[in-house]
Amino acid sequence: MASNETRSRVAVVGSLNMDLVARAPRLPHPGETLAGRTFAQVAGGKGGNQAVAAARLGAQVSMLGCVGADGNGVQLRAGLEAEGIDCAALETGKAATGVALIIVDDASQNAIVIVAGSNGEVTPETIARHEPVLAAAEVVICQLETPPDTVRAALAAARRLGKTVILNPAPATGPLPADWLPLIDYLIPNELEAAALTGLPVDTPEDAAKAAAALRAAGARNVLVTLGARGVQATLDGAAAATLYEAPKVKAVDTTAAGDTFIGGFAAQLAQGASVETAIRFAQRAAALSVTRPGAQPSIPTRAELGASD
Ligand code: RIB
Repeated sequence: MASNETRSRVAVVGSLNMDLVARAPRLPHPGETLAGRTFAQVAGGKGGNQAVAAARLGAQVSMLGCVGADGNGVQLRAGLEAEGIDCAALETGKAATGVALIIVDDASQNAIVIVAGSNGEVTPETIARHEPVLAAAEVVICQLETPPDTVRAALAAARRLGKTVILNPAPATGPLPADWLPLIDYLIPNELEAAALTGLPVDTPEDAAKAAAALRAAGARNVLVTLGARGVQATLDGAAAATLYEAPKVKAVDTTAAGDTFIGGFAAQLAQGASVETAIRFAQRAAALSVTRPGAQPSIPTRAELGASD
């Protein structure tokens, strides 16, 4: 791996959660108590996962966010630092560190409830305080597990600074504010999020292309809809049609953080000047390997595991 001085920089604005993960035969019905098989507590949060992915996959990464002054916060910060991630812009707030309650079933599907905690303390003022971190990066990534005003401030600052801007609109509950879309170079939802953003059904790659066309018409430059085992439907600026990049076939045990691994790997590649196609294929290989292993951050592979040369 190249030294920190020569590795390209990615800044991640986002959430850090301690994931409390139970494995059960299936997801419970409302009101049902179900016996689980295993329990694990692992580092997660979409922001933290994307930062770890970008770092393990070749970028020099800075994390902008907020943990609580508690054991979970100490552990999450130490985990990022152990990956060589710059945590100078990772603040310690008043609320407890964010947590995610995750159930993974025997079909490797998951259901997640997040409690934002200190992730809610990342404000537009936090973004302004740490703007030099964004200025130093080639690529800036945001998600939706920090307050909307904060995400908007981060997108706007990154756009003004001339950075490549990635938004992973997760979790999505409805359309994005119209003034956000022109700030985004790469909008990367999964199929559920693409449906929530557009109000269109997104069950097939063709549906994903239609949703992407609607999002591009509203101002997003490039839209990559991640479709799990079916691949990524990419609708790129200047291309006449959407392209489906099929996913490598693997036996999945846990899909938690697969999307985060894709985004971190994609960002790391873009920061290094790779073509979009190369970045997509590299990130797909990383995401495919991640789903063969349990947990969020523990499942994310390194460049060496992908056989990538330094
Ligand atoms: O994308 C997976 C992540 O979503 C988990 O790590 C959990 O913390 C939630 O943020």
